[in-house]
Amino acid sequence: MAKFAVILPAAGKSERFKTHQQKKKPFIELKGRPVWVRTAEQFCNRADVIQTIIAVSPEDMEFFKEKFRPNLAFMNVDIVEGGASRADSVFNALKAVRDDAEYVAVHDAARPLIVGAWIDRVFSEAVGHGAAILGTPITSTVKLARANSKAAAVIDKTIPRESLWQAQTPQVFRKDLLMKAYAMRGTLEPTDEAQLAENAGIPVSIVEGSPLNLKITTFDDFKMAEALLAILPAEKKLNALHPFADEDPKMWR
Ligand code: CTP
Ligand code: MG
Repeated sequence: MAKFAVILPAAGKSERFKTHQQKKKPFIELKGRPVWVRTAEQFCNRADVIQTIIAVSPEDMEFFKEKFRPNLAFMNVDIVEGGASRADSVFNALKAVRDDAEYVAVHDAARPLIVGAWIDRVFSEAVGHGAAILGTPITSTVKLARANSKAAAVIDKTIPRESLWQAQTPQVFRKDLLMKAYAMRGTLEPTDEAQLAENAGIPVSIVEGSPLNLKITTFDDFKMAEALLAILPAEKKLNALHPFADEDPKMWR
């Protein structure tokens, strides 16, 4: 069985979230349990995950270690300091990955609705191809528009959506490929690790996940996550048994 280390970046500033709440999104409670704990437990309990590392900003470090000491001990999660950008946070964690990890998976701490079946899918694609991420095909009609002085923007044209996907996490790489991607980073400020790999000429597969695997960005996203948990409690609890494993991915669109 291939061995995975999992990096959970949680060192952002939650700026788009904090306009509504003065707290950072990985640390707030989602239906009674912290967002990052819900995220981490989907990985820590897997037989193929040998290490889980969370990146926390220096300003949150003391609070984080103190408040979550029992969770950290129970789930055996390592902590590193995050950096100024997401890619910096992930790089700091990459340096702490154990030598015996063959693959590295990066998953947003702020994406707590991930379930085992989707992790299975992207892990196995990464083992087959070296690098793979979860994503969803774009279902909306997409417009290219120019901002104008008002609140609205003016449409230039419609972009055909046939080949367009939204990237999600987990993003999973053979360890040497992710290290190569970082070595070739230069001044790039990527918004995900796949972009770093693309920059290094590394082919990355995109595997269909689910729109339910949402990232909490705004407070509205948080309310959606609460609602989705409420309709999927049994599935989340039964995750260790991979409750969705036999289902057609297309039903999750
Ligand atoms: N992240 C990180 N280090 C950074 C920036 C982001 O570890 N320097 C993490 C966030 O904590 C989050 C994930 O990367 O779990 C995805 O980033 P995003 O949703 O943009 O979170 P924030 O950067 O915190 O939010 P915002 O951009 O609204 O400030
Ligand atoms: Mg951000």
